[in-house]
Amino acid sequence: MATTNKDEVTISRKQMAELLNDDLAREYQAVIAYTVYSQTLKGAEFMDIAKELQLHAGEELAHAIKIAKQVDYFGGTPTATPKPVKLSDDAKTMLRADLENERETIAQYRQRIKQAEAMGEFALGEVLREIIMQEQEHEMDLCDALGIDVPPPK
Ligand SMILES: [Fe+2]
Ligand SMILES: [Fe+2]
Repeated sequence: MATTNKDEVTISRKQMAELLNDDLAREYQAVIAYTVYSQTLKGAEFMDIAKELQLHAGEELAHAIKIAKQVDYFGGTPTATPKPVKLSDDAKTMLRADLENERETIAQYRQRIKQAEAMGEFALGEVLREIIMQEQEHEMDLCDALGIDVPPPK
């Protein structure tokens, strides 16, 4: 049960395992989307970003393994099911789908870091901070490719 301590909300280990499993499903989604999109983006102007996406795929797999380890640590069973991946033949549609997913991932990890720290789980906080740095780089790469500004954090 969640307890309110000043303005912090402490969640249980079980709730943390469930939330991390949701994060894991999002990491799998990212692995799949970057794997598929990196090989199907067409057009000379997208060749550089296609190479970047291939690198992202590998980084997302490393995130998935780290998050699965944390699910296990918190007493859960790592999920085997990804969030759905949007398929498209259009390069910009693919890049926008990646961008939306990265933004959702970043918003979720920001919350998860606060929750981890409220629980006194500083090692988890550290793992998440390292991951969120890479997610922000992914977001910037996608914004560059789409020619849009990265919005400031909400
Ligand atoms: Fe990731
Ligand atoms: Fe990412």
